Amino acid sequence: MQKQRDSFSSKFGIIAAAAGSAIGLGNIWKFPYIAGENGGSAFIIIYLIFIVLIGVPVMMSEFIIGRKAKQNVFGAFRQLTSHGFWKIIGIMGVLAAFLILSFYGTVASWTIEYLVLAFKDGFSGKSSDELTFMFESFSQSTFKPIVWQVLFMALTAYIVIGGIKKGIEKYTKILMPLLVVIIIYLDITAITLKGGMGGIRFLFYPDFSVLTHQSIIDALGHAFFTLSLGMGVLITYGSYFKKDTNITSTSISVAGADTIIALLAGLAIFPVVFAFGAEPGKGAGLVFMTLPKIFELIPGGYIFSILFFLLLSVAALTSSISILEVIVAYISEEKNISRKKATIITAILITLTGIVCTLSFGPLNHIQLRGFTIFDIFDKLASNILLPLGGMFISIFIGWKLKKQIITDELGNYGTLRFKFLKVFMFLVRYLAPIAILIVLVQGIWQIIMEMIIAG
Ligand code: TRP
Repeated sequence: MQKQRDSFSSKFGIIAAAAGSAIGLGNIWKFPYIAGENGGSAFIIIYLIFIVLIGVPVMMSEFIIGRKAKQNVFGAFRQLTSHGFWKIIGIMGVLAAFLILSFYGTVASWTIEYLVLAFKDGFSGKSSDELTFMFESFSQSTFKPIVWQVLFMALTAYIVIGGIKKGIEKYTKILMPLLVVIIIYLDITAITLKGGMGGIRFLFYPDFSVLTHQSIIDALGHAFFTLSLGMGVLITYGSYFKKDTNITSTSISVAGADTIIALLAGLAIFPVVFAFGAEPGKGAGLVFMTLPKIFELIPGGYIFSILFFLLLSVAALTSSISILEVIVAYISEEKNISRKKATIITAILITLTGIVCTLSFGPLNHIQLRGFTIFDIFDKLASNILLPLGGMFISIFIGWKLKKQIITDELGNYGTLRFKFLKVFMFLVRYLAPIAILIVLVQGIWQIIMEMIIAG
C-alpha cells in the first residue's frame, strides 16, 4: 500500500490531522451531554485525570507502534510480534469502529439538519421549550435524519476512497483553528449571560458526592473516545509520522487541544442551560437544544450559527474518516479486496446499522435494555468497554512486550532527542494504565451483574 507510506508534510500538519481525528462530535456534542448527566465538575476532574495519566501514555504507545511498524493496525502487530494474540486489538478495534461510526452518523445527521436550519434562520425567536420540541420532533422522525445520515456516510466514504491525506492535512489546518475562534466568541457571550454563573459553578466547583460507578466508567470511556484511542486509529496515523516527529510533544499537543476544545464547548453550553432554566442532564440532544439560544443573542448570530454548524459538520467528517479508515485498511489488506470496494461495502453496512441507531430515537425507541436504547448500547459497548480494553492491551504491549530499545529509540528519535521521562512513561504503561483500566472495567461489569441480580 503505497499511499500509507506517505508522510505528513509539516509538523503542524501532523498535529492538525491527529487533532482532526480527535476533535469531533465527542468534544462538542458528547462531552457536555455526559458531563451534564454525571453532575458536572467532579466528573470532569476524573475525566481530566484519565486524559493525563492514561490517555496521553496510550496515545504515545499507539504512535510508537505505528511509526515503528509503518503499517495498519493488523500489519503492525504482525510485524512487531510473532504471537497471534495481539490480533485481538485489531479485531476489537474493527468492531468498535463499526459501532462508533453507526451512532456517529446519527449525530452527524442532526448536525447537518441544524446547518440547514441555521441557513433558514430557523432558531430566531424560539423559546427554550420550542427549541427542545424542535429537536425532539426532528430526531424522532423517520425520514429526514436518515437522508442526512446517508449523505454524511457517502461523503465520508468519498473522502476515504480519494486518498485521505491531502484532504485531511489541507482542511483541518485551517478549519480547526477557525472552530476554536468561533467557540471562544460563543463563550464570551455565554459567560456574560445573566444567570449564567450557575453554569460556571456546575463546570468548576466539584461535588464528589454526585459521582457513581457509572460516572467513572463514562469518564474513562470518554477519555478514550475523545482522543480517538484504543482502536488503532493513531497507530495508522503514527505510521505516517516522519523520523523527526516528536512523539511526546505531539501527543501532549493533541490531547491538550482536544481537552481545551471540550472545556470551551462546555463553557459555551452550561451558562445557557442555567440562564434559561434548562436541565443539564437532558441527554443526547443537549447541545442542539441549548446552543441555538446563544446565536440569537450575539451580534452576527445568523452568520455565526451557519459557520458553527458548518465547522461542526467538518469536525465530524475529519473524525469519521479516521474511523472508517480503520475498517477499510483491515478489509482491503487482510481480505485482499480493492480499497474502493472495501470502502463502499463497509460504508453501506455501517449506514444500515447506523439507520437502526437513528431510528432508536423514534420508531425503535421501545427496544431498550436497562433503559438504554440501541443508540446508547452501541455507544456504551464501544466507548466504555471495547476502547478501554483495546487501550489496556496496547499499554501492556508497550510496557511488557515490546523491546525497550525500540521504545527509547522511538521516543528519543534515535538519539537526536532527549527523552527525560522514560521512567514515568514506563511506569504508566506498565502498571498504572492497565491496572486502572482493569479496575474500572471489572467494577462496571460487577455493577451490571449486581443490578441484574437485584432486578431479577
Ligand atoms: N475522537 C472523535 C471525537 O471526539 C471520534 C473518533 C474518531 C474516535 N476516531 C476515533 C473515537 C477512534 C474512538 C476511536 O468525536
